[in-house]
Amino acid sequence: MSVRRASDRLSTAVTGIVRRDEPLARRTTYRIGGPAALYIECDTLSSIGKALDILSEEGIEWTVLGRGSNVLASDEGYDGAVIVLGREFKRHRVEGDRIRTGSGVVLAAIVRDAYSRGLGGLEFAAGIPGTVGGALAMNAGSRDAWIGSLVDTVTLWVPGVGLRSFHHREIEWGYRSTDLVSRGVVVESELRLHEADRETVRRVTDACLTARRATQPVGTANAGSVFKNPQGDSAGRLIEACGFKGRYRGGAQVSEIHANFIINTGDARAADVLGLISEIREAVSQTYGIELEAEIRFLGRRTEA
Ligand code: EPU
Repeated sequence: MSVRRASDRLSTAVTGIVRRDEPLARRTTYRIGGPAALYIECDTLSSIGKALDILSEEGIEWTVLGRGSNVLASDEGYDGAVIVLGREFKRHRVEGDRIRTGSGVVLAAIVRDAYSRGLGGLEFAAGIPGTVGGALAMNAGSRDAWIGSLVDTVTLWVPGVGLRSFHHREIEWGYRSTDLVSRGVVVESELRLHEADRETVRRVTDACLTARRATQPVGTANAGSVFKNPQGDSAGRLIEACGFKGRYRGGAQVSEIHANFIINTGDARAADVLGLISEIREAVSQTYGIELEAEIRFLGRRTEA
């Protein structure tokens, strides 16, 4: 594996940006994380294909990052390549009640379009940070609505194969999970919304946003819910009941507003967040016999937890 050689080859082959030692703190909403060995922003589809071929030939692992809003990156960084979808993937188009969207589009952009056109279905997504691709990959949503339910087709770049479109029924949709990432790079999707009363769409969207602002630490550096809700219960309730609200470790703090959020108060390290995660898991397991499962995605070398 030669990162230097890969970087040289990528710089020639890829339309976009190729950098070495890119700080992941700059690429995640947590603002935490050491350097990724390679950062590749692909502006075109053919660049993705070329980049994946080069990485495979050079034996370098890779992962795709959206806005990094559900990611805790290691303090030691990531030995592989982080791929970000650039220009060609930041476009979307509304056709009747359908939205065809590139994966690099921010979710807020299509929520806004649905809001102004009176298209129903996306109201729950108001205030969810991140890109459409990231939201699809993890089936982002609220307590009772998730993006997968709106999907007609998802188009992937499958390594070694090329572009493939999958219908909703060909994809495994779980609670905050899908099998998309294991199959390839999510490049585009078609969502089916429904014509609705414009005022109702606006009222429901505004209500979702207001509820989120009242119950979640909006505006702080965080990565959303740290744990998935266990069946029939709420991770936030369990963590609060174990006395963790407001608990600090280094620069990381369990949110005073919602105990299932750990926030970076300014100088948190991944080790601080991981330390709190371990303490919480241990306490909830001891007190309730429930093993909390992480919702956030870990990237890079793990030093703890
Ligand atoms: N609760 C507490 N203490 C807390 C937080 C919550 O007792 O510190 C209680 C609340 O009072 C409520 C219950 O727990 O009775 C559920 O809380 P909430 O309605 O805030 O929803 P949640 O289950 O914690 C889920 C999703 C959120 C989503 C909201 C709103 C998960 C893990 N979380 O939160 O999704 O925004 O519903 O629909 O599924 C995310 O996935 O990153 C995320 C933020």
